[in-house]
Amino acid sequence: MKELSNKFLWGGSIAAHQLEGAWQEGGKGPAIMDFATSGSAAIPREYTKTIEEGRRYPSHEGIDFYHRYKEDIKLFGDMGFKSLRLSVDWSRIYPNGDDAEPNQAGIEFYQQVVDELLKHNIEPIVTLYHFELPMNLVTKYGSWKNRKVVDFYLKYAETMLHALKGKVKYWVTFNEMNHLEPQTEASDMFTYILAGLKYRELEGNKKETLAIIGYHMTLAAVKANQLIRQIDATNQAGCVFGIVPTYPINSDPINVLNAFKEMDRDFYQIDAMCYGEFPKYKMTELEDMGIDIGMTEEDKAAFAEGKLDFIGMNYYMSQVARYEGDTADENALFGGVQNPFIEKSKWGWGIDPIGLRYLLNYTYRRYGLPIIICENGLGAFDEVGPDGIVHDDYRIDFLQKHLRELKKAVVEDKVDCFGYLMWGPIDLVSATTGEMRKRYGFIYVDKQDDGTGDLSRTPKESFYWYKKLIAENGASL
Ligand code: BG6
Repeated sequence: MKELSNKFLWGGSIAAHQLEGAWQEGGKGPAIMDFATSGSAAIPREYTKTIEEGRRYPSHEGIDFYHRYKEDIKLFGDMGFKSLRLSVDWSRIYPNGDDAEPNQAGIEFYQQVVDELLKHNIEPIVTLYHFELPMNLVTKYGSWKNRKVVDFYLKYAETMLHALKGKVKYWVTFNEMNHLEPQTEASDMFTYILAGLKYRELEGNKKETLAIIGYHMTLAAVKANQLIRQIDATNQAGCVFGIVPTYPINSDPINVLNAFKEMDRDFYQIDAMCYGEFPKYKMTELEDMGIDIGMTEEDKAAFAEGKLDFIGMNYYMSQVARYEGDTADENALFGGVQNPFIEKSKWGWGIDPIGLRYLLNYTYRRYGLPIIICENGLGAFDEVGPDGIVHDDYRIDFLQKHLRELKKAVVEDKVDCFGYLMWGPIDLVSATTGEMRKRYGFIYVDKQDDGTGDLSRTPKESFYWYKKLIAENGASL
């Protein structure tokens, strides 16, 4: 095979809290990201307890996809998208998370969005949890540390599986749960965006809390995988992980070993979802730390029955592992050591197309399951030219280089990668910084960080490039 399959899913990926807006419409309840202020590369977002006067909360308006989804999906259709990964906001379906009955208006919204996608022959891939946790589950139950939240999640999943039955085949249980890791003292940011809690303010044994949250999410995922197939045997159950390939700083064996260990930490949940049991090495490691995650016999059966059908990977950058004597920036999002062989984006993310081929090979050889790239893209400052168009040749260059490596992984290395979903095909709110000016899209949205802009949508130069690439099924890569 020299070319990609003609079934290859070209498309993009979006998340509800980063673009829908309408945070108090259609019966939606408050969710954790509704309390996240806007920040920047230099100033971290804040997560306030209440909505504070005079602060900006970008999720409240997003890019108003809630009201403009038809226009946006039409533009995706014009580009020739074969697939769109979108998330359902849990707080639209169960506004408090623990409600007895679902909110009908929320269900109907997603049914309409999915119908609109199908109208344009776009295969929907639905993520059930992309940082959209109803706030009430944090304040009343203590978030994912509480096992009850696993049951609430399953009830919500079941509601959506029935609501979109026959229309949606590909389901994603969680986005990037792997960023919660008890050994790495995860930053406040990931503890918050995944679970609505602030790491530094956690009471008791912080590492234990993170381990239990990570365990409960993994358990919820395997139980949901069973539901996904029970409700419709033709469904495909997946989970999306954000993996940052980790290289040693040099060939000193101890640095090579440390790099391996640093990268491997992110794989225990994938192991748990692919091998039919929660990994023994992880259990022993946690026991050595005096941590009891409370696994039951019933849980063990869930791991045996709830394996994945496919793996979703988000790939943005690689990193260099920590090593003895390392003076790197402790606050860097991921490893802060500069790799002299690669450039960085304006937000400090290392641009490494070969890392994508490496990750695809690594993951496919380890699990042998079909893989879909669920996010990849370049956050950049875009300027509208005098002709009213953003000429984003830097974005085209980034995407083209990554896609070339993906194609090599498929046609030369025989990795079963069945799709590529570019992150943020329309400009939307940045998850880590809350900015609009960190733009990813093929479509420019006139919304600025000071709140100005008329929200109009305009294709960028990359829009036409991607359209052509999809039309020729990547032949020119
Ligand atoms: C991924 C998340 O980790 O990174 C997305 O799944 C996020 O939600 C993306 O938007 C890019 O990060 P950022 O901060 O540039 O938006």
